[in-house]
Amino acid sequence: MKNKITIAIDGFSSTGKSTIAKLLAKKYNYVYVDTGAMYRAVTLFAKQNNYVGEGYLKKEELIKELNSISLSFKFNKDLGFAEMLLNGVNVEKEIRTLEVSQLVSKVAAISEVRKKLVAEQQLMGKERGIVMDGRDIGTVVFPDADLKLFMTASADKRATRRYKELIGRGDKVNFDEILFNVQERDRIDSTRKDSPLVKADDAIEFDNSDMGIQEQFERICSLVDRKLQEI
Ligand code: DC
Repeated sequence: MKNKITIAIDGFSSTGKSTIAKLLAKKYNYVYVDTGAMYRAVTLFAKQNNYVGEGYLKKEELIKELNSISLSFKFNKDLGFAEMLLNGVNVEKEIRTLEVSQLVSKVAAISEVRKKLVAEQQLMGKERGIVMDGRDIGTVVFPDADLKLFMTASADKRATRRYKELIGRGDKVNFDEILFNVQERDRIDSTRKDSPLVKADDAIEFDNSDMGIQEQFERICSLVDRKLQEI
């Protein structure tokens, strides 16, 4: 019996996709996969090897090294979610910096990078009982997902959330820089040739500019419960 579903959550940067995805995974006992973390880890690798930096991208050199990048997740019981490992090293903190955020869209636009990561994501989601968030989950990774959500919110609201998150972590950041980054990433992610960020036709859109986490979570849980009854 098919008693678990595949949930795809896509949307713009800093729309709270991962917060909702983590809550869903906990409630339904599903596996959560943060695909943005995978693109961030490849970007960190590229940065460490000087394949990418401010104003440059050595695309061909990075492509040649893709086979030496091993990505995995390790569940952290204390945090309640899986942390990103790059070649066996926990890089959860390093991949969340503004510097990586400023470079990641360039790396994520490379088709060879996407091909590698999409194949890994499809393998991870072979069994139902998964909630995956990203930009192309409902359109490319799991076009047959049972439930597709598309999250949006105003750029200002999103930048404010991200600013608070980074300040809370002790990072020294400037609001305008964050706002610019959020808008610039959306622009690159939505206009790239390979798998641009678009809402799947059958995705349910959630504008959470003025909606708290609890309200969103409750609404989404009722969608999940309805789906579970249908299957
Ligand atoms: O979800 P995030 O903000 O951590 O993602 C970081 C970047 O990775 C995002 O700006 C675009 C890219 N990304 C992507 O292209 N496809 C995905 N499925 C997930 C993320």
